[in-house]
Amino acid sequence: MPIKFNSKDNVLHLYNKTISYLIFISNDKGLIHLYFGPNLKKYDLDTLVYHTIHYNSKYVDGQEKFNSLFDLNDETSMMEFPDFGTGDYRSVAVKIKNSYGDCTTDFQYKKHKITKGKGKLEGLPSLYGTENDFTTLQIFLQDKVSKVEAVLEYNIMENYPIITRNVKLVNKSSNDIVLKYLYSACLDFPTMDYNFYYLTGQYCKERTIRHNKVQPGIQMISSLEGKSSHHTTPFCALTSLDACEDYGDVYSINFIYSGNFEIRVETSPCDSTRLLVGINPETFEYCLTPYESFQSPEAVLLYTNKGLGEMTRIYHKVFNNHLISKRWQTTKRPLLLNSWEGCIFDFDTEKLLKIIDESHELGIEMLVLDDGWFGKRNSDTSSLGDWYVNKDKVDLHKVINHLHKYNMKFGLWFEPEMICPDSDLYRKHPNYAIKSNNRYPTLMRHQMVLNMTSKEVCDNVYQQISKMLDEYEIDYIKWDHNRSITEAYSKELGYKHMGEFYHRFILGTYSILEKINTNYPNVLIESCCGGGGRYDAGMLYYGPQVWTSDETDAIARLTIQEGTSFCFPCSSMGSHVTANPRTNYNTKAKVAMMGTFGYELNPLTLSQDIKEMIKQQIKEYHQYYNLTHFGNLYRLISPSVNPYKASWMFVSDNKDEALFTYVVPLRGPQSLSYIKLKGLDENKDYYCPQLDKTFNGKFLMTYGLRLTFAWVDTGQAISYYFKEVK
Ligand code: GLA
Repeated sequence: MPIKFNSKDNVLHLYNKTISYLIFISNDKGLIHLYFGPNLKKYDLDTLVYHTIHYNSKYVDGQEKFNSLFDLNDETSMMEFPDFGTGDYRSVAVKIKNSYGDCTTDFQYKKHKITKGKGKLEGLPSLYGTENDFTTLQIFLQDKVSKVEAVLEYNIMENYPIITRNVKLVNKSSNDIVLKYLYSACLDFPTMDYNFYYLTGQYCKERTIRHNKVQPGIQMISSLEGKSSHHTTPFCALTSLDACEDYGDVYSINFIYSGNFEIRVETSPCDSTRLLVGINPETFEYCLTPYESFQSPEAVLLYTNKGLGEMTRIYHKVFNNHLISKRWQTTKRPLLLNSWEGCIFDFDTEKLLKIIDESHELGIEMLVLDDGWFGKRNSDTSSLGDWYVNKDKVDLHKVINHLHKYNMKFGLWFEPEMICPDSDLYRKHPNYAIKSNNRYPTLMRHQMVLNMTSKEVCDNVYQQISKMLDEYEIDYIKWDHNRSITEAYSKELGYKHMGEFYHRFILGTYSILEKINTNYPNVLIESCCGGGGRYDAGMLYYGPQVWTSDETDAIARLTIQEGTSFCFPCSSMGSHVTANPRTNYNTKAKVAMMGTFGYELNPLTLSQDIKEMIKQQIKEYHQYYNLTHFGNLYRLISPSVNPYKASWMFVSDNKDEALFTYVVPLRGPQSLSYIKLKGLDENKDYYCPQLDKTFNGKFLMTYGLRLTFAWVDTGQAISYYFKEVK
């Protein structure tokens, strides 16, 4: 079992073939973090402890008992679960207020338990796997004064350099306590010689890769909008200063949560670094009544010494196999045409039937009817909340029957967490919308947000969606979320529980998604949020696809897709060829093929030439499906770093095939260039049909490919396929 307790040294060692994680159980200073990094078969405890903890003995004999202060100070100690009030002045992993108003806690070790496998987190998304995939360590801690128990859980994977963590707090006192912070994971590092990588963005420019050296003080990325947001992503990496795509230490965290989060990097005056990830304490205060418990979301910790490229490939594999629902690991996703950019709100039954005929001709497998089919919705000013068909506008039975004649599938857009003041739902239940007492609610895009903390509201939303799923054969749901929360307030929560609002909101959303997945397991969910404003590992658990961005121009998308692929699988990255005129159809398809691939245009307006191109693209999509969805991604040239070039490739697991893509966002000063490929087998030879030539794998990776003039014009792209010659 890859978790061992060394009772002589009081050390817990979690390990697999590549990583080790060491925890020291001190007699009186709680849990000390000793090490996370490459697998260590042997370690010198004295050295580890010397570098991580400085203190004498805790209790001084006498009439009164005192805690002894650390020799130096607590700020060099590496803690597993730092708590508030006893001398660690860095940000702490937990802070509670007991019924006396006292915030000090002193969590001490009680016992631990090691088991095979991994449990599910109640009401929350998490990685899953069998007893062969995971081993679990639970460490039970206790603060004797407040009578609060903490259960720190670690799940180490057998085949990946990954440990997941979560914390559960149990109030074992007979009084209420208030939970002020509870981070899901704290990771202390002995130095501050790291680069901090993270993603930032905005609407139509989501997830740009950023990095800077860790600086003295605190650096934070966080969200306050009730969702993970366009502006940041619940992911980060600390890397060694020399780390790049292909080598260097990478310690990364991906947080499986879609609500307000915080990632905090803090250095101490003694140059050590603390990394914390969890629910954003800024909008969180949870009242735990006697014997109630609180479950934190799960954080995924990853370590590799093979650079950021390897980090990406590990996340892709683990999320494809242990986060995304089993159902969608093996089932091929239908190639879709989405109505939004092609029709906006302007469609009726006849138009849709014609679109279906044309789509079928092209080889499309599913029509997704986006916004505008329900209530009285002909613009964005009304009807969110009224999830029944606008029969004056569209006969959905007829549309679906027509699709079935061609063996095609049908998908439908919902924005379940929203309500328009101009809707039947609002007229009947104005109290379902979030608004604070005695204040005018803020409207965004003419809509308000539903109070998903209320079970009644969640039940109403679920019933409406399930009625649609029962009445119509719906194969796919696009689950949108087009505005952020303002005036967060819920009368039912009352003063005592109001601080729980944002967390309970996302639990409400998760509960509906969970129910849909349980009761309608064949429905494919693609989540969306004004483009890519809720792209996180939490949403991926419920739906294997996420709409990446409302920016659909292929060139503008390059940095967005690059940043998204940094820590989320390409198979999840919703990307469509649209009629956006800025870029040609060849390049649009090459870029969309980095993600799920689909179309979002009105096929009735296409010229014959473009239709022929699309048919060819669809053939290639099928040919490359396994490579682009489940292959290993190698970023060759980053468009964030080089404005003139972008290049990436996919390589199959057994290295018998690869797909190389090269795009020129802007014609640059260099007209000729060459590029080295990656990830191939150096002993294999590969045939490239586009060049009608066979190359040796080592040659392609050491010398590379020569690029010719034809490829270097602004907006051009090429893809080369390589197949092993046996
Ligand atoms: C959001 C989505 C779009 C589309 C519209 C419909 O902006 O990102 O893809 O669904 O809503 O209103």
